[in-house]
Amino acid sequence: MSRKIWVFDTTLRDGEQVPGAKLNLYEKLEVAKQLKKLQVDMIEAGFPSSSTGDFNAVKEIAKKVGNSDDVIITALARAANTDIDAVYHSVKYAENPLIHIVLGTSDIHLEKKFGKSKNQILDIGVDAVKYAKTLLPDVQYSTEDASRSDFEYLWETIEAVVNAGATIINIPDTVGFAEPEEFGELIFKINDRLKNLNDQVLLSVHCHNDLGMATANTLAAIKNGADKVECTINGIGERAGNASLEEVVMAIHTRPKIYQAHTNVNTREIMNTSRMVSGFMGLDVQVNKAITGENAFAHSSGIHQDGLIKSRDTYEIINPIDVGLDDMELVLTARSGRHAVKNAFEKLGMDQFTNSEFEEIFTDFLELADAKKEVYNHDLYVIIENYFKKHIRNDQDTNHYSNNFYELIDLQVISNTKFPSASVELKKADQIIKGSAVGSGPIDALYSAIMDVCDVDMKLVQYDIRSVSRGREALGKVKIQVEFQGETYIAKASDTDILKASAYAYVNAINNIVVDHLLPIK
Ligand code: KIV
Ligand code: ZN
Repeated sequence: MSRKIWVFDTTLRDGEQVPGAKLNLYEKLEVAKQLKKLQVDMIEAGFPSSSTGDFNAVKEIAKKVGNSDDVIITALARAANTDIDAVYHSVKYAENPLIHIVLGTSDIHLEKKFGKSKNQILDIGVDAVKYAKTLLPDVQYSTEDASRSDFEYLWETIEAVVNAGATIINIPDTVGFAEPEEFGELIFKINDRLKNLNDQVLLSVHCHNDLGMATANTLAAIKNGADKVECTINGIGERAGNASLEEVVMAIHTRPKIYQAHTNVNTREIMNTSRMVSGFMGLDVQVNKAITGENAFAHSSGIHQDGLIKSRDTYEIINPIDVGLDDMELVLTARSGRHAVKNAFEKLGMDQFTNSEFEEIFTDFLELADAKKEVYNHDLYVIIENYFKKHIRNDQDTNHYSNNFYELIDLQVISNTKFPSASVELKKADQIIKGSAVGSGPIDALYSAIMDVCDVDMKLVQYDIRSVSRGREALGKVKIQVEFQGETYIAKASDTDILKASAYAYVNAINNIVVDHLLPIK
């Protein structure tokens, strides 16, 4: 008989832990809406106690995406009442909220991370579950580093937290140490005891990819009784990432007899979700990545092409249409009407704009189409990203940030062999400020000129530039990493003029710091 496997997506929590992948509230909301279309069962929307921004994003997702019965919204808490409160007060707006608590069980974590005894940690975990149960009926407990834990202590913990009311037990292979056969045996043993203890409790797994085995371990767990899997889109996540949702889901979908299981995922939304996550987070998908890589369905060898022409199943185990791969990408131009542009956004899963929002987006589209003639799907993500940025600015304009933001008005950059130089004009509140500098190259000069007038002592750590989509007129996307008072900030910007994109990215980084630190006006 085919069992339902619950799919828990943690792209917005574990996935967002990738350095530089931080999303703003609008982007998070858009990804959450798309995850709902993908029909995942549970969305882990963030780690609310980590920042006010994360708390607000989880709350908005709970309100706007968790407003129906078909999806569970959760967020992560450490085993501390303040963390649990933050989760409760952000997820409680959802129809089906869940509190997710994590606490380590391995000797390494107990001794080296917490410096506490097994009994002490067990009591903390049980108390945390008891407290969470006073707030919500559904509580997931994750035994961090489970795959390196002493089995009997791991089981003792599971038994105690289930008796305290946990409704889902999650077994993480936190450091990607597990091996499929061994992990399968672990899940089999836990499942056997758990179903005897309380057969209503779901058994879940959460695998990391440090040895490239996250998908294999997750599938081994399913074969051995796991009811639920935790995954991310494109396999993004801490270090080498998490089990990739599209790989796990398509393996089950393609080999149902092997796994005797099915999921509720709408596989035709996989490509849209993958592209949205990759576009917003600025994380390219490896070209040969299973399912979502650019080459996953491309056949180059003559022998293969010949076979495919005769019959697709000679070399294709998945019909590309089943993962939402529509090879008819429309190329838009300034002459494409509203209808075509709206349709192109809808095909990418972005179909929930009001008329006035769409009008604003259409104006941005026309501006870009004038500059670069041909507009591709990748460019549409950039239009939306910039639109969201503008809105954050406008939202914040109504509060105390507005007078502290910098806005780039103009720039001039001269590149030559002896003295590359730049001058910039920025605006802050009603003040126009001008600066100039020479540098070792045009970007160095440009950034020095901006630093000359901005009151933020940050250090550029990394600068990346790449083209978005194709052609000579392609948008240049600049991503920078800066450090300010020991914290890392990432900022992005795109423009057909790469110097402007570089300047915008730098000013965006400064404004991100302003939001966090509310710097005084110079
Ligand atoms: O990897 C891990 O252990 C986690 C837990 C919070 C589930 O991400
Ligand atoms: Zn993890």
